[in-house]
Amino acid sequence: MARKLAAGNWKMNGTGEALGEIDALVAAHPAPICDVLICPPSTLLSRMSDRTNATKIATGGQDCHANSNGAHTGDISAQMIADAGGSFVIVGHSERRADHGETDADVATKAKAVWDANLIAVICVGETLAEREAGQTIDVVAGQLAGSIPDGATGANTVIAYEPVWAIGTGKVPTLDEIAAVHADIRARLSQRFGSHGTDMSILYGGSVKPSNADDIFAVPDVDGALVGGASLKADDFGGIISALERA
Ligand code: PGA
Repeated sequence: MARKLAAGNWKMNGTGEALGEIDALVAAHPAPICDVLICPPSTLLSRMSDRTNATKIATGGQDCHANSNGAHTGDISAQMIADAGGSFVIVGHSERRADHGETDADVATKAKAVWDANLIAVICVGETLAEREAGQTIDVVAGQLAGSIPDGATGANTVIAYEPVWAIGTGKVPTLDEIAAVHADIRARLSQRFGSHGTDMSILYGGSVKPSNADDIFAVPDVDGALVGGASLKADDFGGIISALERA
């Protein structure tokens, strides 16, 4: 069985004062019955991990370099994320793919680096608006899954996040039927390639998830949680999404 996970991606948002949101989240949700993850900017990771250490909230990175160390100015490695208290790393987010030209092969290499550091990779896939309008969603996502997930993926080392690019930060969300169709196809491909490990992998939906739409999205088969951007920045909003996942 796939675990339920509410994952927050703070992106390039938050300085020290934003850590108060973590304290508020812990106070409101001291013992969530689903897994909870927050991936802050790397400048906050260690401080956030110190605050969540004794709680059920996990922390993680938003990206990592494929190597564990070396002459790569500005980059951080999965080992460094682990050292700062993180236990997950998001790889292949569409903003990384678009802003930094990351390919499926790059994402797969990074996912392996995440595993080498004994962390869990959150591997992101999703189509653009043009691809959806051209009827290519299933093919595009299938290609990204095939190219971005290394052999050896299991439910213990990998989470998949389906995030339609056009739904990220836009307030636009696919219909529940559209989400169901993609998640069912992802589950079928994971099971075909990885057997029971594919059944165990959590598949998150991401893109404009809010407390107001979370219950409906979490009721869709094979949606095991959410990867949340904007609504993860405020304890009230993210807490509402956690509550919805607990009810699902
Ligand atoms: P959003 O971002 O929730 O702000 O749409 C989702 C994401 O990019 O993970």
